[in-house]
Amino acid sequence: MGWFRKKTTAPALAVLPRHIAVVMDGNGRWATGRGLPRTAGHKAGAKVFENICRYANSIGVETMTFYAFSTENWKRPKEEVDTLMKLFGDYLKQADQFQKEQIRIRFVGDPAPLSEELRQLMKHAEDSSAHFTGLTVNLAINYGGRDELVHAFRKIAAKAKEEGLAPEAITEQTVSEHLYADTCGDVDLFIRPGGEHRISNFLLWQAAYSEIYFCDTLWPDFTSKDLDEAIGWYSGRQRRFGGI
Ligand code: IPE
Ligand code: IPE
Ligand code: MG
Repeated sequence: MGWFRKKTTAPALAVLPRHIAVVMDGNGRWATGRGLPRTAGHKAGAKVFENICRYANSIGVETMTFYAFSTENWKRPKEEVDTLMKLFGDYLKQADQFQKEQIRIRFVGDPAPLSEELRQLMKHAEDSSAHFTGLTVNLAINYGGRDELVHAFRKIAAKAKEEGLAPEAITEQTVSEHLYADTCGDVDLFIRPGGEHRISNFLLWQAAYSEIYFCDTLWPDFTSKDLDEAIGWYSGRQRRFGGI
């Protein structure tokens, strides 16, 4: 039954994607459009992230991966980057809020350039929710799809050198196993709100056969109804994976 929706306001028996990825885009435009600083958009976006996690958990989605900060987002003004980092920290300080729902939180991306404090908070959030049985939420912070592949190739090259791993023994599975998101797996439904029609370096390997859904709704305006719409659209897709 896990494949079908449990409780939903969307059409009954819509096919439920196991893994949904979301590019949380449009925070800045949402705020600017209201005459607010961009950071107000990021705050509103964090609230939406929480709501969507709870809703996805309630309808039985297994995994959601959210793009929160890309390896390219360091190019933004220092003020905005600092505010975003502070927001992640503040958020994680009260991350026990998902305890009731048994939502498990994990991080994907390269934590190295993040502050020691933030890394500790991330570790605490992961450790304290590791045994939860509800939705798994992967939060992508300092994540880049190319960066992830480079890290994977480095680890594989080290194994070739140190453990004698033969080049012909390297398979797609070898690459998959060395990604940051080693257990997050292939993405079924890839959602990009915010009006842009691009992937922006998110989950390049895992999205190889994703169904890609674009909508104009800016992330802070995104509701459970928008998620239902995306899932409804996904239900109507015929996935062939190269077959007929
Ligand atoms: C997404 O919203 C959040 C991050 C990239 C951190 P943006 O900040 O990109 O919002 P827009 O695209 O400028 O509206
Ligand atoms: C993608 O949004 C990254 C996140 C949402 C974290 P961007 O706003 O950074 O992407 P581009 O610059 O429009 O491609
Ligand atoms: Mg953007």
